[in-house]
Amino acid sequence: MRKPLVAGNWKMNKTVEQARSLVEELLPGLQKVESVERVLCPPFTSLMPVSAMLMGSGIGVGAQDMHWEASGAYTGEISPQMVKELCQYVIIGHSERRTYFGETDESVHKKVLAALAVQLTPIVCVGETLNENKANRTAEVVGRQVVDGLKGIQPELFPRVVIAYEPVWAIGTGLAATSEDAVNVVRNIIRPALAGLYGPDTAQAVRVLYGGSVTSANAAEFFGDEIDGALVGGASLKPGEFVKIVEAAVR
Ligand code: PGA
Repeated sequence: MRKPLVAGNWKMNKTVEQARSLVEELLPGLQKVESVERVLCPPFTSLMPVSAMLMGSGIGVGAQDMHWEASGAYTGEISPQMVKELCQYVIIGHSERRTYFGETDESVHKKVLAALAVQLTPIVCVGETLNENKANRTAEVVGRQVVDGLKGIQPELFPRVVIAYEPVWAIGTGLAATSEDAVNVVRNIIRPALAGLYGPDTAQAVRVLYGGSVTSANAAEFFGDEIDGALVGGASLKPGEFVKIVEAAVR
């Protein structure tokens, strides 16, 4: 039985003071839903105060990206060890990183290996663009992202990986995928690609989330046999909304 997981990706929002207020508003509601793994991913500058506030709460903290190298001359970057000091999770390969900052399947792969090496849980994002979707290339693109991003991992470490299927056209647009389409991608593309890499049992053990315009109004439609939770952007900045999405993930 896979434990549901809902993560809030705050993206480039909230100063330290604003992050503190948001956590204060979120905590009472989030703490009640223990059967769901709950994760907050604030910007780097707020990881320290947010992780201090969440200590002992049962709610996890994640970074939104990191470098794969342990240390060195990489101006502006954060290492896996630095993330590990404050976080249990790290988002890797978000489509905004892929689109605006040159993230590739190759860099995703290096980051996933680096995250697992320091016992972080990587939340690895995959998803096709609108043009790819229209050209019926979803299977090819998502399949390639899964295989190239997640190959060559020690099989015993692999079940810690979390995958987020986020169709790029659904992110921040208010136009979520239909649950039927999302379930189809997870069932017919993502899990078979994982099975090809690590066998059917591992493919079934891995948690796969949906992301892209998830709200409290549509969240419940996604959660079920194939989809184990959500990676939430915009709605994760609204305390009432985010708590309701987490509640919808209870099995
Ligand atoms: P959204 O973002 O919920 O605002 O669409 C999702 C994401 O980028 O992870």
